[in-house]
Amino acid sequence: MNHFAWQFSKNPTAYDLVRSEIALPSQPAPGHVRIRIHAASLNYRDLIAWKNLAGRQVDGRVPASDGAGEIIALGEGVSSWRLGDRVAGCFFQTWQSGPFELSHHQNDLGGTLDGMLQQVIDLPETGVVRIPESLSYEHASTLPCAGLTAWYSLCSRSQLLPNQKVLCIGTGGVSIYALQFTVAHGAKPIVLSRSKDKLEKAKALGAWKTICTTDHPNWSEQVWQETDGRGVDHVVEVGGPGTLEQSMKSVAASGHIALIGVLTGFGPPTASLFPLLARNVRLDGIYVGSRADFMAMNQFIESHPFMPVIDSIFAFDEAPKAFEALAAANHFGKIVIRID
Ligand SMILES: NC(=O)c1ccc[n+]([C@@H]2O[C@H](COP(=O)([O-])OP(=O)(O)OC[C@H]3O[C@@H](n4cnc5c(N)ncnc54)[C@H](OP(=O)(O)O)[C@@H]3O)[C@@H](O)[C@H]2O)c1
Repeated sequence: MNHFAWQFSKNPTAYDLVRSEIALPSQPAPGHVRIRIHAASLNYRDLIAWKNLAGRQVDGRVPASDGAGEIIALGEGVSSWRLGDRVAGCFFQTWQSGPFELSHHQNDLGGTLDGMLQQVIDLPETGVVRIPESLSYEHASTLPCAGLTAWYSLCSRSQLLPNQKVLCIGTGGVSIYALQFTVAHGAKPIVLSRSKDKLEKAKALGAWKTICTTDHPNWSEQVWQETDGRGVDHVVEVGGPGTLEQSMKSVAASGHIALIGVLTGFGPPTASLFPLLARNVRLDGIYVGSRADFMAMNQFIESHPFMPVIDSIFAFDEAPKAFEALAAANHFGKIVIRID
């Protein structure tokens, strides 16, 4: 059986995307399921790999941790799935539950292992989860990394409570999920963006306060004012070294910073870390989440009026354009690629 995939191909400085035909064995290996992928979605991480921003070797790798589809074949011994089941792959194929272990770094889709930007994939039966009935394949394709990272930050590693204030930096995939989970818990998101148009969209999703970072480069001062000099209970920190100082100035005493992203680079923070101890703040390093967390999130989504936000959908043949759109950073929410 042959199928089509996009693969990274090394060029002198980074990677090109090439469309290839790949052979598959006639049946999935024992304990594996074969998934016909209907949609994949992109994360900033795919941009990091494509542009070679972190020096990761991905030559020949199929990109994208995130995708959803239906099971079309069962390997010998598979007992937990049936043909036609609607599933998504887990970012870390081996992280079932409990604390993270370093060995999981060898088992991430779209990084060490081939990812979801292909028509068919074989995965261990323990490397997939059922997707919510309420979501299309396109919507469900955004769950495994962006959705789960926001959920794990706020609802697994922390306990998001009603009326708490949550600072969401920017309006990309993780941040919009964080906004939506915050609203769904009866809590209050404060959303930052460089774009006033995007802030209007954030208000429509239930943002409690919005701050334009172009108008207010020292945005922590605004956060402080909006919270009556108390600060926020949680910061969804996707910026990294360039935003951490203001995040520390924005967080309340005994608050929580979920350290997630590297949008401002991989260098060391220039800021003093003293505010963390002076405020008794918890700084949590976050890396996506486990399969058990993924299932808990899906249960929550199924029992609430919750719909992931898709900015745009590209055809499979247009995958490079989808990457360009991600790099342009004009999106609000997620960029999805439909795989017919
Ligand atoms: N640790 C983990 O498990 C994990 C998981 C997922 C993502 N991440 C990381 O989290 C970050 C966000 O990922 P994503 O996939 O959600 O990204 P994304 O969808 O590409 O979102 C990027 C958005 O962030 C804002 N932004 C861009 N550059 C910025 C900067 N220099 N300073 C402040 N805001 C900036 C922009 O929003 P506006 O235009 O509204 O300003 C932009 O649209 C990335 O660094 C990614 O690597 C980590």
